[in-house]
Amino acid sequence: MAWTRRHILSLEDFTATEYNTVLQTATSFWEVLSRKTKKVPALQGQVVANMFFEPSTRTRSSFELAAKRLSADILNFSPSTSSLTKGETILDTAKTYLAMGANIMTIRHRQAGVPKAIAQEMDRLNSGVSILNAGDGLHQHPSQALLDLFTLTAVLDRDNPRLELLSGQKIAIVGDILHSRVARSNIYSLIAAGAEVHLAAPPTLLPKFFLDLVDDNQPGKLLIHWQLEPALENADFVMTLRLQKERMSANFIPSLREYHHYFGITRDRLKLCRPDVRVLHPGPVNRGVEITSDLMDDPKLSLISEQVTSGVAVRMALLYLIGNLNTVNSYQ
Ligand code: NCD
Repeated sequence: MAWTRRHILSLEDFTATEYNTVLQTATSFWEVLSRKTKKVPALQGQVVANMFFEPSTRTRSSFELAAKRLSADILNFSPSTSSLTKGETILDTAKTYLAMGANIMTIRHRQAGVPKAIAQEMDRLNSGVSILNAGDGLHQHPSQALLDLFTLTAVLDRDNPRLELLSGQKIAIVGDILHSRVARSNIYSLIAAGAEVHLAAPPTLLPKFFLDLVDDNQPGKLLIHWQLEPALENADFVMTLRLQKERMSANFIPSLREYHHYFGITRDRLKLCRPDVRVLHPGPVNRGVEITSDLMDDPKLSLISEQVTSGVAVRMALLYLIGNLNTVNSYQ
């Protein structure tokens, strides 16, 4: 199949074929990253602009490294030292990069919908530019969910990670779901894979409307719990999420200690899960709040470093696919 999606803004309408194309392409780049020379000329001459209007360590660095490993030219934008401080709008910033020849823009913004608005403007101008949503407000974070999907499926089959492997797997997502774009993107991909997704959080951080994200004809199942234990029972994977204090407009939890007491992931609590359970976290982590520090650093249980490593291969795959639109996509 040729890759036809110009912008990656949300996973809501991703197809099984698209998920599998991303997983296969990322597997090829994973292999490239294990070579002595980790660079390929796939995007030579193309310009990738990283436009991050919100703080980021992992996502930004990983997009930058991915673009470099594909031999693209990179523009890195920092709001505090840019003309935004002189009143320039985001759209004008995007048009400035377009005029310099940007082909792909990765965009992170605290407001939902900004990447889509820029994509619409780029289409209106017939620019041919692709927009990759690197996290917009509470809305979506597709590249994070795709790297999570790669990490999860690679645990089950390192050589051939594919969507179907997660069918029937029980995956618990625990933490500040209300404020999490990572959870919203993961719900779409995991349900499309046929997983049984169990969300667990205090009621203030897990409103019932999350159930409306999924309709009945999807392969997977979505359940919500206001207690941790039913989500953990026999789980194959546990995905923990950061308490996003910077997005909280009110006191959603009595205290971090109390949150940890009821919802923190500890070695003891993991005994409820399957014996080969693995734990994920998109980072940044509040050590000792969402997850205990020793668990986070235990390579037998934690997939946190794998997630970061997978991130580069998956973002290389995304940049490669949208940078070579309408061509047969397998990278060899
Ligand atoms: C997440 C984000 O920014 O949405 N982090 C990330 O991209 N690795 C989650 C978070 O900030 O907690």
